[in-house]
Amino acid sequence: NKVVLAYSGGLDTTVIIPWLKENYDCEVIAVCVDVGQGKEIDGLEERALSTGASKLYIENITDAFVDEYVIPCVKANAVYEGKYLLGTSMARPGIAKALVDIALKEGATAICHGATGKGNDQVRFELTIKALAPHLDIIAPWRIWDIKSREDAIAYLEERNIPVPMKKKESYSRDRNLWHLSHEGLELEDPGVEPVYDNLLQMSVTPEKAPDVATYIELEFEQGNPIKLNGVAMKASDIIASLNEVGGANGIGIIDICENRVVGMKSRGVYETPGGAILYYAHNELEYLCLDKQTLAYKSQLAIKFAELVYSGEWFTPLREALSAFVDDTQKTVTGNVKLKLYKGNIIPAGATSPYSLYDEDIASFTTGDLYDHKDAEGFINLFGLPLKVRAMMKERSGLK
Ligand code: ARG
Ligand code: SIN
Repeated sequence: NKVVLAYSGGLDTTVIIPWLKENYDCEVIAVCVDVGQGKEIDGLEERALSTGASKLYIENITDAFVDEYVIPCVKANAVYEGKYLLGTSMARPGIAKALVDIALKEGATAICHGATGKGNDQVRFELTIKALAPHLDIIAPWRIWDIKSREDAIAYLEERNIPVPMKKKESYSRDRNLWHLSHEGLELEDPGVEPVYDNLLQMSVTPEKAPDVATYIELEFEQGNPIKLNGVAMKASDIIASLNEVGGANGIGIIDICENRVVGMKSRGVYETPGGAILYYAHNELEYLCLDKQTLAYKSQLAIKFAELVYSGEWFTPLREALSAFVDDTQKTVTGNVKLKLYKGNIIPAGATSPYSLYDEDIASFTTGDLYDHKDAEGFINLFGLPLKVRAMMKERSGLK
């Protein structure tokens, strides 16, 4: 009887190991999924085993996270509620898939996670598990046990003579991966209060502390995929890591939002997505050049739905997959170079080029070229304006106000 546990080595998941063994009489297979959170993995195995796990898997899925989840969101321009670049949301289906893969390999009967009953993460983990392995049971201790606080959790371990991982003071609730770092809790729980950025920020600085000179960068895309940064070919995860450095130093990508959670409540979070903000912006700049009016407009409507699906954990659904197929088709011509200027929290366009650019200087220029005859506009406006004219005539006739 084996249970696979999503394990980080923090206090909560450390408590879950003995709790599972006592309540389910099972073997615990701990799994730490690395999505670029950059936390100490040293000593994690020792800690997991000394707490009672029978095995620890450390699965580095950073590249799959980027290629299979992050980049599709960039291509879709998926932004939740106009602000949030979905850093935690994007990672959950990939983490849950890694847990499922190990559960199947180990012949486990259940997957256990440490997300609370108040949050989005439980929904994302569990929808993914249901979609990929419907026979697996799901155990969510936070919805079952009586542990309510850090003190309870520490007492639980001390009663069992299990070493407490860290006794660090109560802090923000954070979630980090290559794409972002989220902060919730403490003063952020009052939306009337300005975040104490000096305590919060870890990937970036505030614009006030950014350099007084602008930094220029250049990104190259091929069919919507970032392939080069400043002329150097790199895999997408390396581009994001480099953009995090330069974006963070320039105070880019810090957002503060009171968002609607899946479970009904509003919750306030601050997110650092320095590289992500730049990548979204650059990709979007190229689409302005390469997508026709109708496709651009339709795609921006679809982006809202796409973001809702990602936020709500509906990654492995027919609709998300179909929307991605549409988005991928639009990306065939999203190839080219984008230059950006980064300055004190701002991203400023500095020129974009594409072999598939739909911009035609001869047509757009004020000096008339062969392809555009000013006279054609008159007939166009007559027909385009016909319904307005007809309605105005009806109003005159009928006296309608
Ligand atoms: N509110 C954000 C989201 O739902 C961030 C969640 C952070 N998760 C965490 N376990 N601290 O995507
Ligand atoms: C949690 O409650 O587990 C984290 C916050 C969230 O999932 O939204």
